[in-house]
Amino acid sequence: MGISIAIDGPAGAGKSTIAKQAASEIGFIYVDTGAMYRAIGLYFLRKDCWEEEEIIKECHSNHISVTIKYKGQIQQVLLNGENVSELIRTEEVGKITSFVSKIGAVRELLLELQRGLAKEHNVIMDGRDIGTTVLPNAQVKIYLTASSKERAKRRYKELKEKGIACNLEKIEKDIIARDEQDINREISPLRQASDAILIDTSFMGKDEVVEKVISLYIEYTR
Ligand code: DC
Repeated sequence: MGISIAIDGPAGAGKSTIAKQAASEIGFIYVDTGAMYRAIGLYFLRKDCWEEEEIIKECHSNHISVTIKYKGQIQQVLLNGENVSELIRTEEVGKITSFVSKIGAVRELLLELQRGLAKEHNVIMDGRDIGTTVLPNAQVKIYLTASSKERAKRRYKELKEKGIACNLEKIEKDIIARDEQDINREISPLRQASDAILIDTSFMGKDEVVEKVISLYIEYTR
């Protein structure tokens, strides 16, 4: 069993940026569980399937295989052998993913893969339910959050930099809606584990947050 650092929190709190940098500094692998859910979202988007019963049937049919590999330290996600790492980053995929990730059969499909990685490697794993469900015995648990306004501002800046037209108010509205879906679902809702440390990044710089994560890890090793 490796050492596990679990980072949970709402969309746009900076989990992946922070986890990636911290993982590289302490020599852990970074596991992005959202990307795994997005791969399944893409599978159902391609089928234009939003029917819960149909989704459950597909999950039980062995038609869907999600695996990951690493290109250097960057996680690549494969859907039935196809590298979909770029294709999963659209709003459309995000939307259907938020829907399919509520379904127990979808979550079961990924649980083993996620736990297996933590068994074999030292990991920083980010998601929504890592500290509560996937790795309840993680040595370090962090709940990373920021106000919806701040998260919207960051997303707006990111899109603008990519030259994508967007509206700040609409982004914040979407973020709040996504939070509600993730928090209010029945299975594995987004929740701070009772033993997780809360880090509110609203007024913190990236390096400061990475430093805080690493210091929590160092504290554990002492
Ligand atoms: O972190 P992200 O935006 O890439 O996640 C995409 C969706 O996947 C999000 O709506 C919540 C879901 N998700 C989840 O239910 N459990 C996880 N451990 C990670 C992501």
